[in-house]
Amino acid sequence: MTDQQALVKLKGIRKKYDHEVLNIASLALKKGQIYGLIGPSGAGKSTLLRIINLLTPPDSGSLYFHGIPAPLNGTARLTLQRKMALVFQKTLLFRDSVWNNVAYGLRARNYSHKQIELKVGPLLEQVGMEHLAHRRADTLSGGEAQRVAIARAVAFDPKLLLLDEPTANLDPRNIEIIENMITGLSRERHMTVVMVTHNVFQARRIADEVIFLDKGNIVEMGSAEKIFTNPDQEKTRLYVEGRMIY
Ligand SMILES: Nc1ncnc2c1ncn2[C@@H]1O[C@H](COP(=O)(O)OP(=O)(O)OP(=O)(O)O)[C@@H](O)[C@H]1O
Ligand SMILES: [Mg+2]
Repeated sequence: MTDQQALVKLKGIRKKYDHEVLNIASLALKKGQIYGLIGPSGAGKSTLLRIINLLTPPDSGSLYFHGIPAPLNGTARLTLQRKMALVFQKTLLFRDSVWNNVAYGLRARNYSHKQIELKVGPLLEQVGMEHLAHRRADTLSGGEAQRVAIARAVAFDPKLLLLDEPTANLDPRNIEIIENMITGLSRERHMTVVMVTHNVFQARRIADEVIFLDKGNIVEMGSAEKIFTNPDQEKTRLYVEGRMIY
């Protein structure tokens, strides 16, 4: 793959806390692909998302967006950060209506009232929340709240959507709605998605490519088909079969 094709590229990224938690020689994420990021607890998945999102600076190495080195501080970093969205397992919504929560990022980016109307309605429809548009967000169920959080995150058309276990602890119906939304967004808007999940079945359902991270290293990366049926590494096989001891 050439640099031009990669939306994001990581080179020699290392991060140490009390021990080394991430050491990624090279990683390229293509436009419009859904990546499933899997691996045991403590593997460095959330750290990797935070580094890509420019929230956590790496100790060394470089990040490139469209082949251009990412600024790691100052207003240029904020400008780039605003082109990405990061959604956590538990997102705090504002104590305001569902509609205003989704509109928030658009108002902050100075979208006109009309543009906001045109975006928020269809997004709420897409997550099946249009009938609750005027409900206060702090009265929603966990699944409803997460659907609103994702709608809010994508309202401004980010190029990159980073999801850290977005459906952990949700019921099958809400999981299905969120998975459909993620695959729809990737298809319709060519959004690149990186989703951390502990559920290998979920990664298999929605990911085009799977990244298997263990102890801060990419053990293997490949098409979902390959990783789940015929991985190169024995460690990968053990993990996806649920037989990895750690
Ligand atoms: N701010 C921090 N300070 C110190 N250590 C940290 C910090 N953030 C992460 N770590 C450590 O880095 C390692 C990787 O953490 P990370 O949260 O990235 O793992 P993870 O793969 O997301 O795990 P999980 O599946 O449990 O969410 C862990 O050992 C964690 O304790
Ligand atoms: Mg994590």
